[in-house]
Amino acid sequence: MAKIAHLVPLGFLAFTSVVAAPGSAIEVRHGVGKDCVELEVPVLVVATDNEYNIPRVDNNIEAADWSVNVTTWSLLVDPRARIVRPVPINATFKINAKLCVPNQRGPRSDILQIATQGNGFDKRYWDVEPSPEKYSYVEAAIRAGYSILTYDKLGTGRSDKPDGYTHVQIPSEVEILAGLTKLARAGKLASSPSRILSGRSTVGDFIPRKVVQVSHAYGSILVQSVLSKYGNLSDAAILTGFYPSSKQGIVNVGYSDHEYAAEHDRNKFGDYGPGYIVLTTRTTQQRLFFHGEEFEPRLLDHANWIKQPKTVGTFASQLTNQFIPAGNFTGPVKVSFSMAFISVST
Ligand SMILES: *[C@@H]1O[C@H](CO)[C@@H](O)[C@H](O)[C@H]1NC(C)=O
Ligand SMILES: *[C@@H]1O[C@H](CO)[C@@H](O)[C@H](O)[C@H]1NC(C)=O
Ligand SMILES: *[C@@H]1O[C@H](CO)[C@@H](O)[C@H](O)[C@H]1NC(C)=O
Ligand SMILES: *[C@@H]1O[C@H](CO)[C@@H](O)[C@H](O)[C@H]1NC(C)=O
Repeated sequence: MAKIAHLVPLGFLAFTSVVAAPGSAIEVRHGVGKDCVELEVPVLVVATDNEYNIPRVDNNIEAADWSVNVTTWSLLVDPRARIVRPVPINATFKINAKLCVPNQRGPRSDILQIATQGNGFDKRYWDVEPSPEKYSYVEAAIRAGYSILTYDKLGTGRSDKPDGYTHVQIPSEVEILAGLTKLARAGKLASSPSRILSGRSTVGDFIPRKVVQVSHAYGSILVQSVLSKYGNLSDAAILTGFYPSSKQGIVNVGYSDHEYAAEHDRNKFGDYGPGYIVLTTRTTQQRLFFHGEEFEPRLLDHANWIKQPKTVGTFASQLTNQFIPAGNFTGPVKVSFSMAFISVST
């Protein structure tokens, strides 16, 4: 099992093996396969993001300047003091999502897990390619009999990549998760105007009996907001890489090296515009996410290979949700600083 430290709440936890808890009552069924459908889902977002007084990041030089600027400021001043004006968002974004259900129905197959990864990764975070039987959370969930929805957060993978300053921020990302959850609950993920990109279309009509939010790091910040704003939308939640405290959400970006995404790797990230940054090297990934001697180096290579850009707007917006208690949410919650303590059967 990989040994990991979580120094960056907005980041992600590296790949740990996912296993059913020893002696758990959950029967893990071997040989269970899955039916999946990959979808492009238009999600209407009505939210209020903000314009912030932060430097422009349109090249590598400016990315380094930005990091010094926001690090200096964040150590001294609440980032909310940088708000210049609110930016109302009323737009439909195309979100790439993958819904998988066990191909043998069982008592848990109508429980849908919706998985939201940390910053800097797309949905492949949950379906690790090297040794998936050991490291893929999707495979583990299916083996334990659950259905699971993964998605590329706004500005990653095959989802839309709007303005990196004003449009990819916590308030709009919260509405995207809420919107996907509503569609999933209604069995309408695959209904028009969604597009089916591959897989079995009937899977998209699946109506879950229960919805469980599963998240890591930045994803957990989004889930916490969804639980507080839309309490009756979820039946349970597992928040990993999450440590609610007075310092939650304040990230010292000076600790990690970012470059301008389009300049860092033109082949991979050439279609990313202003305000999109990406972690630089394999060593940066290691410093942030892989600690100790026990992790498999090929997982570090894989993490660096699948890494995704993130936006300066996300970092600027990190305190906007203010951790309002989820007064209307009555389901069970598991909070874990690390993911290594999580088993799919909890
Ligand atoms: C940080 O950037 C903002 C916006 O460009 C600028 O107004 C401010 O002076 C900068 N602060 C420092 C310490 O460079
Ligand atoms: C969003 O835009 C649509 C039309 O494009 C309009 O009908 C609706 O009232 C707007 N909603 C808000 C909250 O501004
Ligand atoms: C959940 O709450 C919203 C707003 O409070 C309400 O409109 C909706 O009907 C509720 N849904 C359920 C299933 O109770
Ligand atoms: C719970 O939901 C109701 C109806 O939407 C709302 O009026 C109330 O403020 C919510 N309470 C909390 C604690 O969020």
